[in-house]
Amino acid sequence: MASDFSPPPELRYVQYHSSKETTYLSAIRQLISQDLSEPYSIYVYRYFLYQWGDLCFMALDEKDNLLGVVISKLELHRGGPLRGYIAMLAVREEYRGRGVATKLVRMAVDVMIERDADEIALETEVTNTAAMKLYERLGFLRSKRLHRYYLNGNSAFRFMLFVKESTGQYGGEYGAAQLPPSA
Ligand SMILES: CC(C)(COP(=O)(O)OP(=O)(O)OC[C@H]1O[C@@H](n2cnc3c(N)ncnc32)[C@H](O)[C@@H]1OP(=O)(O)O)[C@@H](O)C(=O)NCCC(=O)NCCS
Repeated sequence: MASDFSPPPELRYVQYHSSKETTYLSAIRQLISQDLSEPYSIYVYRYFLYQWGDLCFMALDEKDNLLGVVISKLELHRGGPLRGYIAMLAVREEYRGRGVATKLVRMAVDVMIERDADEIALETEVTNTAAMKLYERLGFLRSKRLHRYYLNGNSAFRFMLFVKESTGQYGGEYGAAQLPPSA
């Protein structure tokens, strides 16, 4: 499937802020829960948005309707690397295949890199071709298969983007080309 990566002109991309909660939180929940077998509680959204609202980006139409969203976080992983984690990503069905999710993920990844992330992780269902294509194009690598990871019994792939390590195997946009010359 070919994507048109020039986004529709009426779309704008904005960073979430707690002042936007009343306007957007219920739309965010609705958009994300549409494609989940087990909807998250409001506390899950607040866990991410209260602490890492600056790692959440929204795509809005000209009337400020929510068309897409990415929710993520950034913290030390088991006392080791500073790990970004893309927790939720969804685009309204009629806007898919036009580069909206790619743009949202890029915006979140760029902030994580600015904030000195060592690596970025996420999971996606093994059958989610669109998500896997998107992440692989950006340079994420499949790191492991997680058997029956989701409550519905489906398995997942964990994807990783190692921002600072140079193994020479990265393909996509955030691959080795992103590394500083001394790395
Ligand atoms: C996954 C999702 C966010 C992608 O959003 P999007 O705005 O359509 O993504 P983009 O247009 O930026 O890129 C999608 C890529 O998948 C491809 N794609 C889309 N649908 C596809 C399909 N059914 N089969 C194969 N490839 C597909 C697109 O062509 C594009 O790849 P390309 O540029 O290499 O051609 C969207 O499909 C969605 O909201 N799905 C439901 C929720 C979900 O699965 N979230 C991800 C959880 S990890």
